[in-house]
Amino acid sequence: MSKKVLITRIIPAIANELLTQAGFEVSVWEGTGAMTRAELIERARQADALISLGANKIDTHFFSACGHLDIIAQFAVGYDNIDVDEATKRGIPIGNTPDVLSDATADVAFGLMIVVSRKMFYLHNTIAKGEWKQFEPLKNLGIELYGKTLGIFGMGRIGSVMAQRCKGAYNMKIIYNNRNRNEAAEKRLGAQWVSFDELLQQSDVLSVHSVLSAETRGLFDKNAYAKMKRSAIFINTSRGGVHNEQDLIEALQTQTIWGAGLDVTNPEPMQSTNPLLSMPNVAVLPHIGSATVEARNGMARLAAENIIEFYKSGNVPYCVNPEVLKRSKHE
Ligand code: GLV
Repeated sequence: MSKKVLITRIIPAIANELLTQAGFEVSVWEGTGAMTRAELIERARQADALISLGANKIDTHFFSACGHLDIIAQFAVGYDNIDVDEATKRGIPIGNTPDVLSDATADVAFGLMIVVSRKMFYLHNTIAKGEWKQFEPLKNLGIELYGKTLGIFGMGRIGSVMAQRCKGAYNMKIIYNNRNRNEAAEKRLGAQWVSFDELLQQSDVLSVHSVLSAETRGLFDKNAYAKMKRSAIFINTSRGGVHNEQDLIEALQTQTIWGAGLDVTNPEPMQSTNPLLSMPNVAVLPHIGSATVEARNGMARLAAENIIEFYKSGNVPYCVNPEVLKRSKHE
């Protein structure tokens, strides 16, 4: 009997095509938003494998109802919506979709850095509101990026691409903080590992590319902003939970730091009344890091391939808990 795969949201067709060609029975949740918890559990109960999205809460409650699943393939590189420890305990591999979205996401971080440094979104809005009257010699001044210091928090795939962009475009000095040293980035980009405090103190632009975990939740708070340069720009394209948004608002209002560019907020969506949206030195985007045709097609392909390969060989090409593969239920 063919295995049943539930895709929890409409994603690029390639996922469905690859799975169908490989003999899987695919069902797709066709609602306009994310499934509710109850809908997810009800539908996942009838499936063998899942392609999940970040909006699906895959926690102990979910696993107690759907512990029968063979594999969960996340349509994202981040997987903070999934209790990976619980999946591992139950021997369920969790796949994700790295690499294919690194260029797209680094572009958003790079773009936000430029947009903030020249107040572009804010100034665009002044024209739209009919407020721009004439060239102003002493107004609307931004800051230049050439030769400045870029601090990367989380020097993984996306952080490395962002660093490469900044080095190539602006000959920026690259410093980084990461749990492990990234020797490839050190060799290729001259990147220098620094402590977290040194990262805060020395960065002209500080760009966050880490995972959201118990260690990183709320890490960029009042204390962190207080250690940064008054001229610093804070960029976050990873997860909104890594920064404390109220503290960020205050740091910008009190000019503790100069500006901020966010593709991720806390919560999402950000409320339209949030003071960040009317600050000149701030740019906010609606979590579009991976939103290119190329990246989303690549993510759909990888999610499908993670499932297909798992049933074929027991291997999951991109697996966040590979230790379960040795003791998979399917061996
Ligand atoms: C998007 O946020 C992702 O984790 O892929």
